Amino acid sequence: MAWTGRCPDCGEWNTLVESVVPQKSTAAARKSVAAAPGKPIVLKDVVALETARYVTGIGELDRVLGGGVVPGSLVLLGGSPGIGKSTLTGMAMANLQAKGIETLYVSGEESAAQVRLRAERLGPAALEVRALAENSLETILGTIETEKPRVCVIDSIQTMHSGELTGAPGSVGQVRHAANSLAELAKRLDVAVVLVGHVTKEGSLAGPRVLEHLVDCVLQFEGERERTYRTLRAIKNRFGATSEVGVFEMRSGGLTEVTDPSARFVEEATGALGSVVLASMEGTRPVLVEVQALVSPSELEIPRRVVNGIDRNRLSMILAVLARHAGVGLGTSDVFVNVVGGVRVDEPGADLAVALAVVSAHRGQALSGSNGRPLACFGELGLTGDLRYVGHADRRVAESVKFGLDPVVGPRSTERLPGLAPCASVREAVRRAFEQGGQAAVA
Ligand code: TYD
Ligand code: MG
Repeated sequence: MAWTGRCPDCGEWNTLVESVVPQKSTAAARKSVAAAPGKPIVLKDVVALETARYVTGIGELDRVLGGGVVPGSLVLLGGSPGIGKSTLTGMAMANLQAKGIETLYVSGEESAAQVRLRAERLGPAALEVRALAENSLETILGTIETEKPRVCVIDSIQTMHSGELTGAPGSVGQVRHAANSLAELAKRLDVAVVLVGHVTKEGSLAGPRVLEHLVDCVLQFEGERERTYRTLRAIKNRFGATSEVGVFEMRSGGLTEVTDPSARFVEEATGALGSVVLASMEGTRPVLVEVQALVSPSELEIPRRVVNGIDRNRLSMILAVLARHAGVGLGTSDVFVNVVGGVRVDEPGADLAVALAVVSAHRGQALSGSNGRPLACFGELGLTGDLRYVGHADRRVAESVKFGLDPVVGPRSTERLPGLAPCASVREAVRRAFEQGGQAAVA
């Protein structure tokens, strides 16, 4: 097909996507489908799915996957360049290969020598993985067909190119066609396929977004390249929960699991001005993270609101609630909020931590719990200024107490939670927090 930039039907530009037309004419295809009717089965008579899994031995990865890689499944691993996708998949393949599960690592980005260089850093097991540096989809499909690996990594799906299409690698048509072909082969040969996909800073999986419905599991690898912590979360998972989060740290020998992130983050928490510890929930696991705020007089007409690790709109809401219900007006101040370690917290329970960090920065008064330890808190702010209950209050409080951060300022709970300083409103929470902390003004 010739290049066409504008759709002749609707007149829009850049909306056309190249795709492969099936050999049979569509009418004939429809007819053959209609000729052989399917046979519905009562669900209780359907043979249940095998729950066998390929356990990668990387605990945080296995947990996010729901217990390991499901044979014959399709996993999409997204993340920005340099985050550690090739490292993580390389390590997982090394472990599987060491267990005698045949692997194949297809790299469309790096030469075999470059892949080897990374493997050398990961250890001897990684060098046992079979690699193929290739971009041609047809060659890759043929290789999988003859080699019959049990698990195969395609790094990355955006570099795959099919001769059946004229589009460049990474175009929606190419990406979709490559993924469809690999999916078909994966199901037929029972090969688990991990598709690596690049995500741009804006969060769109340039291309791979169109794959989300096609794959069984979408994993997102996040963090900032300059920082050591990385989080892995499932956005979609046909074989497990989507709330689990794995935490890793990039070191010289690859990624190391951070099995007890709270210990790390609490140890690093400063307890300084504008700092507070949030008792958050990452899936089923409580994690203590430090939230920091900086407030300074603005020279701009519209003051700045800069966030890292939380949602910007959420900050706007919290500032509005503080102004209206706690007498803290920041309309002429720049406000910066940062979740330390490059971690992202995506839950309403983070509201109070942001609010208290901001108030502490604004007042120039540090917050601390008993024994001068950092102050821990959690809770959602309602628009009416109330402090609302959030899930797993018991586990949040218990985790804080475990690290000696009590009392914890949080919403009222129907259960009796030792260590909790329950508050009904944001105003009360601010008062209690500074009462607890009670440290003299530092400013
Ligand atoms: P990489 O896995 O290549 O990222 P991606 O495939 O997501 O683009 O690795 C990312 C960075 O990690 C790279 O800049 C080098 C660094 N790194 C380490 O610090 N230690 C290691 O052992 C390895 C293999 C990589
Ligand atoms: Mg890579």
